[in-house]
Amino acid sequence: MSELARISPPGAADELRAALADLTESEQSVLTRMIMAAKFDENGRAEIDEISIVREFMLTDPSMNTPSQPHGGMPPIIKPYTGRPFVPFPKERVEIDANLADVIKRRKSVRDFKRQTIELKTLATLLETGYGLVRYVSAYGEPRFPFRRAPSSGGLQSIEVYAAVNDVENLTPGVYHYQPERRGLTLLDPGLVRRRCVRACLNQDWIGESGVVLFLTCDLRKLLWKYGRRAYRMSHVDAGVVAQQLHLIATALGLGSCMVAGFVEEAVHKLLDVDGKLEFAALGICVGVPVDAPSH
Ligand SMILES: Cc1cc2nc3c(=O)[nH]c(=O)nc-3n(C[C@H](O)[C@H](O)[C@H](O)COP(=O)(O)O)c2cc1C
Repeated sequence: MSELARISPPGAADELRAALADLTESEQSVLTRMIMAAKFDENGRAEIDEISIVREFMLTDPSMNTPSQPHGGMPPIIKPYTGRPFVPFPKERVEIDANLADVIKRRKSVRDFKRQTIELKTLATLLETGYGLVRYVSAYGEPRFPFRRAPSSGGLQSIEVYAAVNDVENLTPGVYHYQPERRGLTLLDPGLVRRRCVRACLNQDWIGESGVVLFLTCDLRKLLWKYGRRAYRMSHVDAGVVAQQLHLIATALGLGSCMVAGFVEEAVHKLLDVDGKLEFAALGICVGVPVDAPSH
């Protein structure tokens, strides 16, 4: 009897058993581990989510599990997009004249936004102060290795930032990718995204009132070549670092923001056009003008 057959719930339907028998040995091995790791509710239904799938994929796929030598195999640190419309940021920035302790005291999750356009210079300030390029250094055999405003595991900047734009000055609504080196946004998919964001985020309606939803993805490729299976853990820590930085800077800029982990992974992966395995959505941050903000 295979290991999988042994752990299958005794009441499992015959069709299920037959379907399992069709799997290859390595697929059976992944599934076995997932079943063993899954939590079961009182009706015996397993909760197997995207995270456990990615994790199992990483732990069992040999190509994911072997860190290669440092200085070899490092993917581009700044994800390139070519042949797409690009919107450069304006030169102007908003001056942040805030005291860190005050910002921390003022910080809260804001979910009540008024429909007011966010200025592009404000979004630029948020992205650049939170996760912009600081300088180039010589590292990993690269004479011009970029450093960013947030710390990251190995300095490898595993987090990519996408912006689902609802209402930002001079930006067509749609999905953009933040390009720190070129100082602007690449337009990936034009079109209204309010309802798509709400639906992807488990119908949290207030999200539709935000000016922009920033989605942070983890690009495991940047970490795997160096850290192997530890990459998965580190990618989430990296996401938390960038998220909190953006949340605090939004507060300092007088914007309201709220992190969102309540989303359907597949829907967000589709929205951002990422594969959900080597690059997957970690967190959203909704940003908007709070209802209690003074009117101009
Ligand atoms: C990782 C993470 C995910 C979150 N996801 C959601 C979410 O999906 N929806 C939501 O309304 N709030 C979400 N929040 C916000 C929390 O509910 C909020 O931080 C908490 O209630 C404490 O309130 P405060 O941030 O105002 O102090 C999330 C916060 C974090 C850190």
